[in-house]
Amino acid sequence: MAHTHFKGRSLLTWLDYSAEEIRALLDLTRKVKNESARHESHQRFKGKTLALLFEKRSTRTRCAFETAFGEEGGHPVFLSTQDIQLGAKESIEDTARVLGRMFSAIQFRGFKQSSVETLAAFSGVPVYNGLTDAFHPTQALADVFTLEEAFGPCKGQKLCFVGDGRNNVARSLMVISAKLGIHFTVITPGALNPDAALVERCRPLASASGASITITSDLAEVKGAAALYTDVWASMGEESKKAERAALLAPYQVNASLMARSGRPDTIFLHCLPAIKGEEVTAEVIDGPQSRAWDEAENRKHTIKAIMLATL
Ligand code: CP
Ligand code: NVA
Repeated sequence: MAHTHFKGRSLLTWLDYSAEEIRALLDLTRKVKNESARHESHQRFKGKTLALLFEKRSTRTRCAFETAFGEEGGHPVFLSTQDIQLGAKESIEDTARVLGRMFSAIQFRGFKQSSVETLAAFSGVPVYNGLTDAFHPTQALADVFTLEEAFGPCKGQKLCFVGDGRNNVARSLMVISAKLGIHFTVITPGALNPDAALVERCRPLASASGASITITSDLAEVKGAAALYTDVWASMGEESKKAERAALLAPYQVNASLMARSGRPDTIFLHCLPAIKGEEVTAEVIDGPQSRAWDEAENRKHTIKAIMLATL
């Protein structure tokens, strides 16, 4: 697929992209990762500027955008809510209009999905969702890329998310899995089941791609999983729910015995990071031989570079 097809597009959620388009971005990621391994240097963002808006903290997402853009000759500008008027003294619409006059693209990390949608609607430049309460699409692309590095084509693989089934990471994995034909299982206590409306939206996509979506509280469902994935029990903005979540999710910790219940010695462990070792995952698992979490973190940069190359 010609990359020109992507020009000018935003990435707010994978719901807006077809399986073929996501596949093209995975292929482009492979290309840029190979270039990086050969220490090739390019200047494909020369003369371009990127606004990086952050309402929430970040290590990987910020560094991935900033290094991927900067090393290709682009100029990234980091703006936290301490620095700019966004949503405080100035509406998001007006901020979008102004940034769109000065920047080639905008990355937004924050609370509301409506904020990133408004930026995209009013800026006139590509807007990338670097995480909202609802979705974390750039993460999900890196996750699928990492899965494919371990097992080859993702179609028909079983990916199992164990933990807070409502969160942005679980939701994004559900969407991308449904699009790409990955059998996606969410293992979560009933109180943390993913939003029914999103599940209903994903079901026909999954049927079309030959995938299944399973939502269960039964840990035995890890059987046969190519990958077990978990995330923090309380996401950014949910700090007040920590104790309640710990009580609900303690039985869902990913530890060596849960990894063994997949029944496959080659099952990999994935985590978007940051991780709280001893809560959602044991140090033994995340730092052990089955973990691909560190490759996954590196792949954030390659996937984000691919997304920007395609859309800019
Ligand atoms: N996985 C991820 O988004 O990490 P950061 O919060 O450090 O960006
Ligand atoms: N679900 C987590 C992901 C962090 C990358 C959060 O939103 O805090």
